[in-house]
Amino acid sequence: MKALVLAGGRGTRLRPLTHTSAKQLVPVANKPVLYYGLEAIRDAGITHAGIITGDTGAEVRRAVGDGSRFGLEVTYIPQEAPLGLAHCVLIAREFLGEDPFVMYLGDNFLVDGIAGLVESFGRHACDARILLTKVAEPRFYGVAELGQAGEILRLEEKPEHPRSDLAIVGVYTFSPSIHRAVREIRPSARGELEITDAIQWLIDNGYSVRSHLVSGYWRDTGRLRDILECNRIVLERVETRVAGTVDHLTEVSGRVVVEAGAVVENSVLRGPLVIGADTKIVSSYVGPFTSIGSGCALRNAEIEYSIVLDGSSVEGVSRIAHSLIGRNVEVSRATGVSNTHELMVGDHSRIQVST
Ligand code: DAU
Repeated sequence: MKALVLAGGRGTRLRPLTHTSAKQLVPVANKPVLYYGLEAIRDAGITHAGIITGDTGAEVRRAVGDGSRFGLEVTYIPQEAPLGLAHCVLIAREFLGEDPFVMYLGDNFLVDGIAGLVESFGRHACDARILLTKVAEPRFYGVAELGQAGEILRLEEKPEHPRSDLAIVGVYTFSPSIHRAVREIRPSARGELEITDAIQWLIDNGYSVRSHLVSGYWRDTGRLRDILECNRIVLERVETRVAGTVDHLTEVSGRVVVEAGAVVENSVLRGPLVIGADTKIVSSYVGPFTSIGSGCALRNAEIEYSIVLDGSSVEGVSRIAHSLIGRNVEVSRATGVSNTHELMVGDHSRIQVST
């Protein structure tokens, strides 16, 4: 069995971060989302992974390398434009050969991995197996309609009027029959070759497609609140590890990770949280479910339930919550006229200030 990992595409919902960076590399608990997927693939016993890349291909290659650190042999498959998930299968034909494979969307996050899915695909021969999960807003996903016996009646991609609340999770297993399906379908209204349509084609043409309902933790990390939730879930499981320096004036409660070279002085750390290497935190409060990247600086600041990427600083600002702060960002208190906010903010940013 091989893996096909999709790490191209556009990151419109996480702009402006994704103007400069791949959405699959946004960190969760200071580790790129994509790494969790690659580890899950390895843990399922797969050794060969093809990675589809787009405009951010160079960054993805830098982050993943030859895959050896994940125990994988990686083949990169550049996609000229984001022409759809089924297009990714089309261009991976040579890499995939006649092997069954698991297709993993690089921005998806499954807490419990994929070993169970891969194993059950091996046990019950079928042409495709999809995972479904109940969601509150199905119109943002591929949606499945099931019959009385649990059989799949119909799959629709981001329907305006969903027929169920069962979303298709971004991890699929396929037999080589999918190669025929992706050649037969036509682009959707949004101009993409949809994997949802290819699976529907399999159903319509008498191939066996099974679905499996999952209730464990799954998120498509394409949106802010989902990535913050993933961060929370991963931090729930961290164990305390302090390699940096925490002074005696600092009050620590809960589980905290303080990486090497990080310095915390006269602050309150209320875990679970992670503080990256070479970050300095002075006279600040870092609250639960917060990941601060490496090389950051916090001074007289308060932050919780947030993610701060590498090289950013927060000074004299309280309290930041439910926030995602990009790389090399400066957040500080305005020194001019009181009650004014002074902003220099990139395109497609979103700011909510309390007046
Ligand atoms: O996350 C689950 C959902 O993923 C499913 O419910 C939908 O049925 C499925 O179509 C997909 O929807 P998204 O709109 O979330 O897909 P997105 O465009 O975000 O692409 C998913 C991943 O695949 C992402 O890591 C980018 C990558 N990609 C996407 C396209 C369209 C590529 O590498 N190439 C592409 O052409």
